[in-house]
Amino acid sequence: MTIRIAVAAAIAVSIAGGGAPGEAHRPAPASPVAAPTAPPAGDSAVTYHRDVAPILQRSCQECHRPGEVAPMSLLSYAQARESASRIQEALLSGTMPPWFADPGVNRFSNDRRLSDAEARTLLSWVDAGAPEGNPADAPPPRQFAEGWTIGQPDLILEMPKAFEVPAKGTLEYQFIVIPLGFTEDKWVQAFEIRPGNRSVVHHVTAVLRAPGSTWLTDVPVGEARPKRGESTLATSLSMSSGAIGAYTPGQPAVHYPTGRAMRIPAGSDLVLELHYTANGKLTADRTRVGFVFAKEPPAEQVRRFVIVNTTFVIPPGDPSFRVEAVATLRADVKLTALHPHMHLRGKASEFRVVTPEGETRTLLRVSRYDPAWQLRYHLADELVLKKGTRLEVSSVFDNSASNPINPDPAVPVRWGDQNWDEMALGAFEVVVPRGAAPRVLIDRHNR
Ligand code: HEC
Repeated sequence: MTIRIAVAAAIAVSIAGGGAPGEAHRPAPASPVAAPTAPPAGDSAVTYHRDVAPILQRSCQECHRPGEVAPMSLLSYAQARESASRIQEALLSGTMPPWFADPGVNRFSNDRRLSDAEARTLLSWVDAGAPEGNPADAPPPRQFAEGWTIGQPDLILEMPKAFEVPAKGTLEYQFIVIPLGFTEDKWVQAFEIRPGNRSVVHHVTAVLRAPGSTWLTDVPVGEARPKRGESTLATSLSMSSGAIGAYTPGQPAVHYPTGRAMRIPAGSDLVLELHYTANGKLTADRTRVGFVFAKEPPAEQVRRFVIVNTTFVIPPGDPSFRVEAVATLRADVKLTALHPHMHLRGKASEFRVVTPEGETRTLLRVSRYDPAWQLRYHLADELVLKKGTRLEVSSVFDNSASNPINPDPAVPVRWGDQNWDEMALGAFEVVVPRGAAPRVLIDRHNR
């Protein structure tokens, strides 16, 4: 029971952007790599310095280095050798690197998977006993950016007060409101969140609170307020439709191409949702955010919306309960990214569109959803969707006892904010010509 609670508390329920890795996730492979049947020719020549290090640099070290989210570093030969058998296991089971879109359905620009050749190289290296090879063959160490990765921001805002993180225990998500004070609309070209203390900041979601919104208005500016007891639908809709960016290890900052930006209406405020994890020492954090504004109003405007079904009841014990959420587009849009969101019973997700002509196309299929990783999938080929297109999101839940992270298989489960509740939600990021589209982009259909 202790384990279940710890896991439940650790898992991210952020619905904004990026991927929020949890401290633990279910050992569910996404697209496992096939074990090499026959070793490739010249296999014995595979060495750490020449063949393995470049792959670890490119695909693993952003998370597997000191102060980052992964449990061990993969920066040196000694560290890689030490973890060799676990690397083999992770590759064969498909748990690493974290990427859960089924192959062959669509192409994504942020695809993290290793190529078959890279995976074979790592597996052959482990099979061969993890040989070191010649240090002279090693690539130069990968450099990680220390400053802002978006360039010098036009505006930097800091949490008004430090948040004290205790040495031990599980912390609830914290909300902190930061006033923006814009008297005119601003166009965001790039946005970055920089934790003050990376060793305790697990992930951060930044959300715009629209002018006039009553969401969290009882929270004094700059004071941290635990997320407990939110009015669930209001919170999740505010969070998902107002999301402007997220910090999570290994996920790049938001940076739109020239001519494309996100509008911040005058009078908006920024709400940070912070997930802190204790690191054994009493410490504190003051996270900062940086904005780069577009030099002129962009041709295209970035918009986000979510499709939800809030009326489901997942029966106790059901190993595969499917919930559909449907909406229709009110305007032509260009689709740029997709983000499925469920909690601990989330098992699979699928995003589809049906064109006004009646043609169905699957955009994303995640057969093995992992709630510990809140991944956004950026389309490699942006897709024009016409007004009248039907958007469909299927969410499949496992409420049985064989789901190892199910908080309680004996209860019916409804929509809610907490990890023991569920969400059937699909978030869409689109672009539209500036000022052209209606304020509300979709008509939701209740089912
Ligand atoms: C986006 C961050 C990220 C990336 C990229 C990433 N990992 Fe991980 N890795 C994690 C986290 C977090 C964990 C621990 C939680 C878990 O098991 O999911 C982990 C766990 C592991 C484990 C299991 C450790 C154990 O305790 O058994 C192995 C092995 C591993 N990673 C190898 C790799 C390799 C090899 C790559 C690159 C091909 C890679 N990872 C890329 C974040 C990452």
